[in-house]
Amino acid sequence: MSARLSRRRFLGLAGGAGVLLAAGMITPRLLRADSPGTGELLRSKVPLPEPFRVPLPVPPVLRPHRTDGADHYTITQRAATAEILPGIRTPIWGYNGIFPGPTIESRRDRTVVVRHRNELPVPTVVHLHGGHTPAEHDGYPTDLLMPVSGWNGGHGGHDMYDAKANITYGSRDYVFPLRQRAATLWYHDHRMDFTGPAVYRGLAGFHLVRDEEENALGLPSGERELPLMIGDRAFDEHGAFAYPALDPLLRSIPGVEPGYVEGVFGDVILVNGAPWPVHEVAAARYRLRLLNGSNARRYDLALDPPPPGGGGFVQIGSDQGLLGAPRVHDHIPLAPAERYDVIVDFGRYPTGTEVTVLNRLGTGSTAQVMRFVVTRKARDDSRIPAKLSDLAPLSREQATVTRDFAFTAGQVHGRTGWVIGGEPFAPDRMDARPRLGDTEIWRFVADVHHPVHLHLVGFHILSRGSGPPNPFDGGLKDTVDLSPGEAVEVIARFEDYRGRFVFHCHNAEHEDMAMMANFEVV
Ligand code: C2O
Ligand code: CU
Ligand code: CU
Repeated sequence: MSARLSRRRFLGLAGGAGVLLAAGMITPRLLRADSPGTGELLRSKVPLPEPFRVPLPVPPVLRPHRTDGADHYTITQRAATAEILPGIRTPIWGYNGIFPGPTIESRRDRTVVVRHRNELPVPTVVHLHGGHTPAEHDGYPTDLLMPVSGWNGGHGGHDMYDAKANITYGSRDYVFPLRQRAATLWYHDHRMDFTGPAVYRGLAGFHLVRDEEENALGLPSGERELPLMIGDRAFDEHGAFAYPALDPLLRSIPGVEPGYVEGVFGDVILVNGAPWPVHEVAAARYRLRLLNGSNARRYDLALDPPPPGGGGFVQIGSDQGLLGAPRVHDHIPLAPAERYDVIVDFGRYPTGTEVTVLNRLGTGSTAQVMRFVVTRKARDDSRIPAKLSDLAPLSREQATVTRDFAFTAGQVHGRTGWVIGGEPFAPDRMDARPRLGDTEIWRFVADVHHPVHLHLVGFHILSRGSGPPNPFDGGLKDTVDLSPGEAVEVIARFEDYRGRFVFHCHNAEHEDMAMMANFEVV
């Protein structure tokens, strides 16, 4: 089947999950729009800690080791242990041995060079998610960085030879020009077939881009600006991360045990690597850069208690930077890889209030995320201007091409997996060739929940179902969460860089089980 679908076929798929249900490929539970996504719960085998006891960690900001025309950083990817559950050492894979990795802070238009050294036992790939990055530095899934200790495990899981792969040994420089708006980006592993387990072990960190426009606004900053990476994990009886990989050494066989093909949910909610942490705040505005770094789990965050009068979250930004104007919400839905930049004004609460961040899509241990405690009155000079940014939306008329892609369950090399347009990922198959500078509309349709992500571009959401975008769809996005049976249209301009890039489902299990495809900007 071609990746281009007729309108009829496209609409047929939008309601066509019944076929997959009948084939036993998906279960009715997955078709609920209010489910925590597509996945199966893995339970921890160690006693879980009391929530709200561990202080919220904030990942350290990395210093460049050299600045000339560019800022140069070094990161070593290595195995380490971390005390995540109190009193228990958990083996992790970390950028500089920590999870989350160190935060990189950059300025718009200033090139960043990150030298990554791979001291892990397997190949890795670094992708800057949300980065507007030339193809050779974008972390294409077969552009492997081989371990310094060598590698005899072959090319990768589905054992596909990619003639175009750019393999490096030991260490390599990733160059990020960052010609893009201020935004909350993140970097994570992207090795073909093994992204899920590698990120689960800890290979993820923040990369913040700042610019003059944003700095001039007077938003909360310093200790009142908190990047929050939310993720779920399960722990085995020894306190290690539990993950149902078919190949626990991540050497050759991709994917997870049959019961988890839908995705892996853990029962422990981590924020910046700490279980249900607590953070003391002043009665003032805080900027929270929310990132869902989970493999499969969706969240719907709410404040308990809500501030008097409601509207506890003032959204100022989306995946790729500021909105045109703030939007007030009572809750924030957050699919894997999405970012929401929000202001919470703790000055609306009496001192002493404990404000719990709930997950309305969770149950039991996953229904809570973290807690803020308002401990003191404080002066607050921050502002939330009514106008945040000049963000011109793209209009339908600007688009020269419309493409359709269906995200569904399907057969992958003889196993049940996940496919786009009926096809499993293959590095040598091009599914779209946008022309440099062109604006295109891409229509996605999903059988179950799929958070769809495009590399290289930011996009605007044009429609959901047959209606307008929802209140959370504003701004420049790079990941859009599709509900079961839903169709979404996005519009993007393919600018600046030619070459081969991927787009994929950001449910990491789906991605590893082949729900990824290529586009080439020509
Ligand atoms: Cu978050 Cu293809 O990546
Ligand atoms: Cu990406
Ligand atoms: Cu998916």
